[in-house]
Amino acid sequence: MRINGTPHSMTIDNRTTLLDVLRERLGLTGSKKGCDHGQCGACTVLLDGERVNSCLMFAVTAEDREIVSIEGVADLADGEALHPVQRAFLDHDGLQCGYCTPGQICSAIGALGEAGRGWPSHVTEDIAAGVADASALDAREVRERMSGNLCRCGAYNGIVEAVLEAAGAQGPQDTATAATSAAGGAR
Ligand code: FES
Ligand code: FES
Repeated sequence: MRINGTPHSMTIDNRTTLLDVLRERLGLTGSKKGCDHGQCGACTVLLDGERVNSCLMFAVTAEDREIVSIEGVADLADGEALHPVQRAFLDHDGLQCGYCTPGQICSAIGALGEAGRGWPSHVTEDIAAGVADASALDAREVRERMSGNLCRCGAYNGIVEAVLEAAGAQGPQDTATAATSAAGGAR
């Protein structure tokens, strides 16, 4: 498999998760093991450009696939030191302890890609029509699309604002509703 642009060949037990390969075999500890059950999103990485929970994926199924973890997302930006989503998280204080942040950033990049392809979410007004692009997202859409990523520090207000900025969204950011969500999740 290719990880952050580098090919890796290894022999592994076929029960080994992608997350354990990243962290334990390759020393890429940016992806975090929060729950190890697909519940928290801390382990999110990009697989061929789409977000996956690496704790739920057997590494052998990633054979010949392209994986980008938090260590590689800056390389997705055009010559910038940071990916625009990373920059937006810093600018909007989208983190406190930082434990969930690698997963949040990978998930946000994936979510913006999904919106760019027009994919609807559960709260999209017209499911059949989808969304025009990422800039059409509002705070409600961002909360729904990021709801698989939990933050025990409750940094949701900043996370929502960061994703909206990275999306190039123009609409009101609805932070009052985001504040309400802070106690219970990213929705
Ligand atoms: S560690 Fe994978 S979803 Fe929580
Ligand atoms: S910043 Fe601490 S868990 Fe999210």
